[in-house]
Amino acid sequence: MLKLRDYKVADIPRMTEVIKAAFAEYQGKLEPPSSAEKKSPEVVKQELEHGNALVIEDKDIIVACAFYKPKGNYVYLERLSVLPEYRKQGIATILIKEIEKRAKETRAKGLTLSVRLVLTRQQALYSSLGFECESYGTHSGFSEPTFMTMIKRFAD
Ligand SMILES: CC(C)(COP(=O)(O)OP(=O)(O)OC[C@H]1O[C@@H](n2cnc3c(N)ncnc32)[C@H](O)[C@@H]1OP(=O)(O)O)[C@@H](O)C(=O)NCCC(=O)NCCS
Repeated sequence: MLKLRDYKVADIPRMTEVIKAAFAEYQGKLEPPSSAEKKSPEVVKQELEHGNALVIEDKDIIVACAFYKPKGNYVYLERLSVLPEYRKQGIATILIKEIEKRAKETRAKGLTLSVRLVLTRQQALYSSLGFECESYGTHSGFSEPTFMTMIKRFAD
C-alpha cells in the first residue's frame, strides 16, 4: 500500500539513497553528469533548507521523492526520483500532481522544472501533465544547450 507524505529530517539519509538509485541509470551517460550521483545526506539537507519534499512509502519504506521550492512567482520541482522497481505505476504523476495542488494553494503562477535535452521520455511525461518548453539552457563549459526549462502556467 503506497502512502504519500511530507518528508521528515530523519528521512534524509533514505531519500539520498532513493535519489542516487533512481539516477544511477544515467551514470556515464549524461554530459555533464547528474549532480545526483554525488549527493550526500548533508547536501540534501542543505537543499531542503529553502524548500520542501514529498515522499512515497511502500510499507513504511520510502521508494520515491520529489523536492519543490518557490522560484519567483513559480514553484520549482526537482529531484523527482522513483526507484526502478516502482516505475510505470503513476508514482511520479502522483508526486507532480500533489506539488501542483500545493503550489496552487500558495497562489503561485505555475510550476517549473528543468530537464536534460537527452531525457525525451521525461519531457513526454511532463508534456502529458501540461508542461511546455519555455526556454533552453546550457551548463557552464558547454557550447550547445544541454537542458530545457519546462513550465506549467496555472489559469488565473
Ligand atoms: C522519470 C521518473 C521519475 C518517472 O517515474 P514513474 O513513477 O515511472 O512515472 P509515472 O509512472 O507517473 O509515468 C511514467 C510512465 O508510466 C506510465 N504509467 C503510469 N501509470 C501506469 C500504469 N498503471 N500502467 C502502465 N503505465 C503507466 C505513464 O503514462 C508514463 O508513460 P510515458 O513513459 O509514456 O510518459 C522515473 O523514471 C525516474 O525516477 N527516473 C530517474 C530519475 C529522473 O529521470 N528524474 C527526472 C529528471 S528530469
